[in-house]
Amino acid sequence: MSTAKKEYKRVTVKSLVDMKKHGEKISMLTAYDYSMAKIVDSANVDVILVGDSASNVMAGHETTLPITLDQMIYHAASVIRAVQRALVVVDLPFGSYQSDSKEALRSAIRIMKESGGHAVKLEGGEEIKESVKKILKAGIPVMGHLGLTPQSIYKFGTYTVRAKEEEEAEKLIEDAKLLERLGCFAIVLEKIPAALTKKVSESISIPTIGIGGGKHADGQVLVIHDLLGMTHEFNPRFLRRYMNLYEEMGNAISQYVTDVKSQDFPNDEEQY
Ligand code: KIV
Repeated sequence: MSTAKKEYKRVTVKSLVDMKKHGEKISMLTAYDYSMAKIVDSANVDVILVGDSASNVMAGHETTLPITLDQMIYHAASVIRAVQRALVVVDLPFGSYQSDSKEALRSAIRIMKESGGHAVKLEGGEEIKESVKKILKAGIPVMGHLGLTPQSIYKFGTYTVRAKEEEEAEKLIEDAKLLERLGCFAIVLEKIPAALTKKVSESISIPTIGIGGGKHADGQVLVIHDLLGMTHEFNPRFLRRYMNLYEEMGNAISQYVTDVKSQDFPNDEEQY
């Protein structure tokens, strides 16, 4: 059953603001390759995020820090080739925008030109405002990302809930208002208390997209491999698994091995 209130043939940054205005929750999922993006897009997910979580789930790194701009462009271009409806947002990877705003703009332009992505996402607030301004001035839509920002994991030290204390919560609200003023079209809120998500979402007119931010966000995002249960060692409270593909795929592959070993596969009908 779909609970969409209005048909969007192609989701744009404007559609997302429209959805918030009309109380329609926004669905967002990651994808990093053509085949997965085709399935995600066909299921009417509003936003596909080519996240730098590709560094973890696709490349097996412990953090998102190692993935490069070239690698993000490769993933994003593969996704774009599959997508007909969703808005495709691409993460600017660590090191491609923090040093100065000119480099940030160059990185964003490379993503737009070389992958065909529709928007970029950057982590942070006040500290990256010059980069956000420059990218927006070039006509590139920007999604913000506040709360737990995985590119700063070595500053935080852990992946636990952020902004539980008043000072950090106040800064997060100010950062969200700043990102809205600068012209961002949406903000991801990662792993913050539900009450703070509610406060932020009510303080700004652009949509908030939560991951571990509770039910008051204007939309939700998950990493597709987590939702499908392909990753099985990552079990945060906020994650709802809709399948256990780790087990199902493992069983299917074991069966294939058994069938090859026992010479059951291929049979007479499966050959020329
Ligand atoms: O890279 C990613 O997958 C993300 C989501 C967790 C929001 O940034």
